[in-house]
Amino acid sequence: MQSSDNARLFKSPLWYYIRNNPRAFSLGMLFLLLTNSLDGIYPLVMGKALDQITAQVPMNDIAKTCLIFFIVMLSLAGTRMAWRSFFGKYHTYAQEHLRQKIFNHITSLGPNFFHKNQVGELMSLLTNDVQSFRQAIGPGVLILADGLILIAILLPIMISLNFSWTWKTLIFLPAVPFLIMKVMKLIHVNYKTQQDRFSELTGVAQETVGGIRVIKSFAQEGNRTALFNGVSSAFEKACNKVAKVDALFMPVMEFGVTSGSVILLFVAKDDLYSGAVTIGTFFAFHRYIQKMVWPMTALGLGFSYFQKGTASFERIKEVLQTETDIPDNGTIEITKFETLEFKNVSYKHKSSTVYVLKDVSFTLRAGESLGIMGPVGAGKTTLLHLLTRLYPLEEGQILVNGHRIEDITQESLRKTFLLVPQEAFLFSESISENISFGLEGRASADIIEKMTETVDLNREIQSLPHQFESQLGERGVNLSGGQKQRLTIARGLIMRTPVLILDDSLSAVDTRTEKAIEAELAKSASGFSRIIVAHRLSSLKTVDKLLILRDGEVEAQGTYQQVLGVSPTFQKIVQIQGQEPTHE
Ligand SMILES: Nc1ncnc2c1ncn2[C@@H]1O[C@H](COP(=O)(O)OP(=O)(O)OP(=O)(O)O)[C@@H](O)[C@H]1O
Ligand SMILES: [Mg+2]
Repeated sequence: MQSSDNARLFKSPLWYYIRNNPRAFSLGMLFLLLTNSLDGIYPLVMGKALDQITAQVPMNDIAKTCLIFFIVMLSLAGTRMAWRSFFGKYHTYAQEHLRQKIFNHITSLGPNFFHKNQVGELMSLLTNDVQSFRQAIGPGVLILADGLILIAILLPIMISLNFSWTWKTLIFLPAVPFLIMKVMKLIHVNYKTQQDRFSELTGVAQETVGGIRVIKSFAQEGNRTALFNGVSSAFEKACNKVAKVDALFMPVMEFGVTSGSVILLFVAKDDLYSGAVTIGTFFAFHRYIQKMVWPMTALGLGFSYFQKGTASFERIKEVLQTETDIPDNGTIEITKFETLEFKNVSYKHKSSTVYVLKDVSFTLRAGESLGIMGPVGAGKTTLLHLLTRLYPLEEGQILVNGHRIEDITQESLRKTFLLVPQEAFLFSESISENISFGLEGRASADIIEKMTETVDLNREIQSLPHQFESQLGERGVNLSGGQKQRLTIARGLIMRTPVLILDDSLSAVDTRTEKAIEAELAKSASGFSRIIVAHRLSSLKTVDKLLILRDGEVEAQGTYQQVLGVSPTFQKIVQIQGQEPTHE
């Protein structure tokens, strides 16, 4: 369904959006045609009035012509408003539809895609590229149609007034669209540089504000200011360059009118002296020369919008055509978790040739808890990402209740295994909204309180000005690293999934609090399984089994004593941390 819709979009984006909103598009076009027709008529009426005045016809006749002129101008205002409003509906709809399409698509892609595409590039796709696509299929199409319709209306009128004047005065006009296209190309190139300079400027400003503590600690204010001043001056230069090429636009446009007007004066003088042509016709003709400049400019502008929009659409298409490396094709639902088995799992990242996991095998049964330890970079997080299908599994098998994880629906898999990631990421919402993040609605106050008690955070939240309704993030309160971690654990716990996975989530929590959390987790998680990655032995006091990873390989697995007997890595950890966890 989605792919056939995309195929239609890729085949002809313009036609796709016209078909999505035919009423607004065709009414817009109809009113544009009416506007242009009225616009074409009014100089004729004005010319007639002038001739009536010079011929000294009765006042009544002049008044009639004036009334017609008034009605034409009033209708013109109405039709102009109507086409803008209908046409606007059509292209703003297209813009938002496409933006939502891209956004929905990129959220369906795996972390590998986000690793390859920087945030800035994706933001630019969702803003600049979508905007220039809208400009092509909206204003671009419109001004092209406007230009062509106007030429079709104005040219016959001019020819009917005087054929020889027409070709002589318009001879230089066809140069205008080409010159406009050249100027627009120059403007785009320079505008792009201006935008790049502006992103640099905001980047430096943002990083300086965000990293102000680091900057002050290293006494780098002076250097940062110099850096900011440098990018700010570069932006100023880029703005001036845009203004310079922008200034070319009007003279190029006026070149057509000026040349036409001068030629008209020359070619019309004899006809005027001889009285073969009235002053009214001369006036009307001069207005038509002026009016022809816009359609010529419109052709140049319209084509240039098209060029820019096409380039943007190519970038958008490339992202929309990117397929997820983790397709959700499974059909099996896990109703009751029984076992998890890793069978000879190996993994290397796409960008690398080195295996970060090598032949990893282990089993976890319902109700058991597993602790994973290993040096920095041993592959612990990678292992968890493979299990929760954030990375694609390529070698080996991961089985849940005997089913391959690829055959299980992603929703069911993630409702069975909930990963609390290593980086504590919270949203700029209230504390209770953050805790209820994974639920359909907001959890009850009782449950939220219970969860925060479990992670030993209740007392601290109660002391905040708005307690659970306190906003987090830029415009709200700032939590400490440990508080954030505990909040993310509460956000995971509330889901009550059969297996809760904590990836180093207890690292920024002090030992006393860690003990309290551990005790509570052991209590509240009875019947549930846990996988806990930790660097501190104290975090793994209550686990049933340990898995020691080293350079992506399983060095040892089993109970505390079994592992201690065979794993040099674990022996070293015990030796350095100088304590033996009392196994409870
Ligand atoms: N996207 C990636 N592309 C290439 N290599 C990566 C990528 N992500 C991680 N790695 C590498 O994979 C290896 C394992 O990383 P992983 O994050 O699994 O380690 P870890 O055991 O969780 O370490 P830590 O204890 O620091 O959290 C590291 O050498 C890391 O540099
Ligand atoms: Mg890690």
